[in-house]
Amino acid sequence: MTSPDPELLRSAFGRFMTGVTVVTARAADGGNVGFTANSFTSVSLDPPLLLVCPGRHLSSFDVFSTTDHFAINILAEGQEAVSNTFAADKGDRFSKADWAADSNGCALISGRTAAFSCTVTQRVDAGDHLVLLGRVTDFDATDRPGLGYNNGGYFSLSKERQANAPASASQLSVGSVILVHQDNILLTRDNKLPSVQLDDHTGARRALSVYLHSIGLDAHMGPVYSVYDNPNSGPKSGSKSGIHHVVLRARIADVPTDCPLKSVPINSFEQGPAKTDMQHLILRRFAQEHRTQSFGLYLGDVEKGEIRRHGDD
Ligand SMILES: Cc1cc2nc3c(=O)[nH]c(=O)nc-3n(C[C@H](O)[C@H](O)[C@H](O)COP(=O)(O)O)c2cc1C
Repeated sequence: MTSPDPELLRSAFGRFMTGVTVVTARAADGGNVGFTANSFTSVSLDPPLLLVCPGRHLSSFDVFSTTDHFAINILAEGQEAVSNTFAADKGDRFSKADWAADSNGCALISGRTAAFSCTVTQRVDAGDHLVLLGRVTDFDATDRPGLGYNNGGYFSLSKERQANAPASASQLSVGSVILVHQDNILLTRDNKLPSVQLDDHTGARRALSVYLHSIGLDAHMGPVYSVYDNPNSGPKSGSKSGIHHVVLRARIADVPTDCPLKSVPINSFEQGPAKTDMQHLILRRFAQEHRTQSFGLYLGDVEKGEIRRHGDD
């Protein structure tokens, strides 16, 4: 155990998997305010209560510490961009999302999976945050899967499940990783994504994590980024033909000096001649999406496929 250093504590709190919400309210001047929050908790069914914790650092803190009403929007898979807007955008956040006002004038964000309109029942000062308890006066819910958040990154459970569906018995499976260190991607000396062959029992995430550990890298494994079949590669004899590829994203804080991988700037993949090589296409898309931190998931083969994002199922 360790004494609570704020940065280490933030990282430890971040191990708790949550959904992502956008909390909204209307200011006295009629303007909308809103921020991304994962401190949402359901509290009671009778009476219907929930809570969320606005931080004192928020530019909208004065509104949330005095408002009589607020709304909680639970974001759906694919709404990473909405979350990023309400976490970081310094302009008019509401011009960048579709929304409609609830009966209290608080914004309900389109594409959400659920929303709750609330009347404030209690405020509790709690260190650098405020615990805002609200009574639910109205709500809606859909069957869209919710967006997940863990260890500082988003995840989409239903897409992960789809992507991790076992390859057909006739194919070899290979797991690869886009390993990000600061503004670089780590590649092997021959410019390939670090990869491992998968057996029938070990998922790509675990197999890659074990492999990276074996070369001295303690990576934080992220979501699946690309899943595709290459029927024309792999062994030409034996019981298996073709390769099923699973590519994950991962981050690493420190690269040891004796690391066998080399760092290549992410933005160097952004342009360049359009090659048909799958790894090149994956890295180019990654570099482009890295700018907005809004990552899609490619499902398909080397010829054709689709990139899923923004609430696609
Ligand atoms: C996934 C996620 C969860 C967050 N949860 C909270 C939270 O529960 N409470 C909070 O005060 N800030 C939270 N934040 C940070 C705020 O969204 C961010 O500081 C805020 O939008 C800044 O708004 P401002 O520029 O108006 O001050 C979270 C950010 C992210 C990305």
